[in-house]
Amino acid sequence: MPETLVDAYGRKLTGLRMALTPRCNLNCIYCHHEGDLVSQGEISAETAVAIARAAAELGMRTLKLTGGEPLMRTDLEDLIARMPEGLNISLTTNGTLLAGRAIALAEAGLERVNVSLDSLKPEVYRNITGCRRGDLQRVIDGIAAAQEAGLEPIKLNVVVLRENEREIPDLIEFSRQKGLILQLIELLDLKDHNMSGDIERIEKSLQEQAIRVRTRELHRRRKYFLDGAEVEVVRPMDNTEFCANCTRLRVTSDGQIKPCLLRCDNLVPVNTLDSEQIKALLREANARRKPYFMK
Ligand code: 5AD
Repeated sequence: MPETLVDAYGRKLTGLRMALTPRCNLNCIYCHHEGDLVSQGEISAETAVAIARAAAELGMRTLKLTGGEPLMRTDLEDLIARMPEGLNISLTTNGTLLAGRAIALAEAGLERVNVSLDSLKPEVYRNITGCRRGDLQRVIDGIAAAQEAGLEPIKLNVVVLRENEREIPDLIEFSRQKGLILQLIELLDLKDHNMSGDIERIEKSLQEQAIRVRTRELHRRRKYFLDGAEVEVVRPMDNTEFCANCTRLRVTSDGQIKPCLLRCDNLVPVNTLDSEQIKALLREANARRKPYFMK
């Protein structure tokens, strides 16, 4: 087993978050494009696999595939099948294209999915996704298909917005009924639209209701266990504890290693398929990791 890399701030590097495409079939009002507004390129399957292999050789254990919308890639199943053994692979998707492909994804080696779903009301869903023909039912069908394919535990990603903050109890109930883990995510407001919902108030109420609270290693995220429901709260903003416990690197959809979502001045481009060279680039990116919010 290779040793885990550690950065200059003592933070372990255990995972990679890789954007496979900038393309998406939705246009969510809040989308931060994984901190990469400029990328138009799409990483080749060869490069994606080579980076993942190097990451595994450096002791990383998790690979999260994102986009854009990763299911926009027709070669996603093939790409997952080619990923190295020993990486736990998960997918963050908007769920709209999941229903027909969940089984093939599971067979290719995908472990689990996170599905972004910010509202259970068709009209609100269409507004948030910026998609007038956006069809909430396709996402719900996608979740069901993922469950049948065993892509579990499934996490439901909800960004807390003014549009949906009154709906959080319904989303908790939906998650409880379907056996999903709910992730309530604080809005990262890059464009200063003032769209954010009151996640602090919501977390206080979870604290009051919780039977048990757990703190995850990644970002010291708190997870609240209610009666039959599991709710994780992701609050990165101005949160030094969150940054102090970050364990990942990102890969942009045009194949650059990105140490922090909020920084763009420290990218390391991957311009080779040679595994030793990619490992050197990953080490270099690790050396550039720095907590964005720091005491
Ligand atoms: N703030 C917080 N989370 C965001 N996401 C996308 N844009 C933002 C933002 N501005 C998250 C959503 C989605 C995942 C792919 O990225 O949770 O599920």
